[in-house]
Amino acid sequence: MEFDIKNVKLAPGGRHRMEWAGNEMAVLQGLKEKFGTERPFAGIRVGATMHVTSETANLMVALQAGGADVVLSASNPLSTQDDIAAALVSYYEIPVYALKGEDMDTYHRHINAVLDHKPHIIMDDGADLVSTLHSSRRDVLPGVIGGTEETTTGIVRLKAMAKDGALEFPMMAVNDAMTKHLFDNRYGTGQSTMDGILRATNVLIAGRVIVVGGYGWCSRGIAMRAKGLGANVIVTEIDPLKALEAVMDGFRVMPMMEAAPQGDIFVSATGDMHVLDGHHIAAMKDGAMLANSGHFDIEINKIALQDMAVSEPKRVREFVEQFTMEDGRRINLLGEGRLINLAAAEGHPAAVMDMSFAGQAMAARYLVENKETLTNKVHSVPAVIDEEIAAIKLASMGISIDTLTDEQVNYLNSWDMGS
Ligand code: ADE
Repeated sequence: MEFDIKNVKLAPGGRHRMEWAGNEMAVLQGLKEKFGTERPFAGIRVGATMHVTSETANLMVALQAGGADVVLSASNPLSTQDDIAAALVSYYEIPVYALKGEDMDTYHRHINAVLDHKPHIIMDDGADLVSTLHSSRRDVLPGVIGGTEETTTGIVRLKAMAKDGALEFPMMAVNDAMTKHLFDNRYGTGQSTMDGILRATNVLIAGRVIVVGGYGWCSRGIAMRAKGLGANVIVTEIDPLKALEAVMDGFRVMPMMEAAPQGDIFVSATGDMHVLDGHHIAAMKDGAMLANSGHFDIEINKIALQDMAVSEPKRVREFVEQFTMEDGRRINLLGEGRLINLAAAEGHPAAVMDMSFAGQAMAARYLVENKETLTNKVHSVPAVIDEEIAAIKLASMGISIDTLTDEQVNYLNSWDMGS
């Protein structure tokens, strides 16, 4: 079996961490058991480009239990957990192509290695796999049934492809499922981003000014958790509705240029480029820290930062590079401007990835079962899948809820019972 990982000897530790995560993933474990008897993926090759974490490993193993032949590469050069890659290779015979800290050439070579396996189902996180398939690897297109996409950024790219008529197979927008973005993007990103910043810097958050770029689901989570740790939070937005919501949630809202001289820590999660640009950096305080929690490392203008510095950056901690400006100010870039929660910490906790990955697994099954009818566009995950995931998750937490009485159903279905 071919693979490209750091060190197979890391496998035993990786397996322990996989089991630890698995214990928090009740919905996915239930699906794994069901897949084991129903074998919905028998004869199906699944090619995944996702963050190689203990949670993703549990997803891969659940698909394998359902009969899938699985192959995995990293969806970010810095997010791979090398012990997990080793465990998947050693104990589950899943070919993994991922090394923490791989350069961009290796990253693309690994995506191509996944495509060399000629997958029928694509699992993507950021749409790099789909994009490679539609450009340099069109030879693989004829065998593809469809794919699933994990993240907001990927769905934006896929919708642009579909609009241009360029998408050659159906894609399921897993991110847009309620049980994904309302939980993973908000509570997952909120907690893991603060975790990444803390592990990278070990600074006290209480009393600091944290500037959060954007107020989408991810940024909302970050703002909420930063506030919970005692930060004085400023939000920047371009959308008046989201800005208004941030104001009414109790945050200060202003343009980035106004926030720049006030912030101690900046975190961006907008999905767009240069949210933290050269002119903002020029106005920042000595010691300012810059982090990104959006999918790609384009939110901080790293080239401008390097150009403004008087020398090469100094690595002052494992995930902190310090750039000194001409006037002596030091600006700290965390995790190379890549997803800070996965670069410096371990990504979202398993209990929240449980729902996202149950959505992935069920969407993949939906693709296999409906391949004859699905068109080449971006499809929503059916509401019944969302409802099933939420119901199982609640049950796994030991929480039961009320059901409507006949009288209440009747009331809701009537139009003549007013005041
Ligand atoms: N995205 C964010 N957190 C993640 C995790 N723990 N595993 C896989 N993908 C993620």
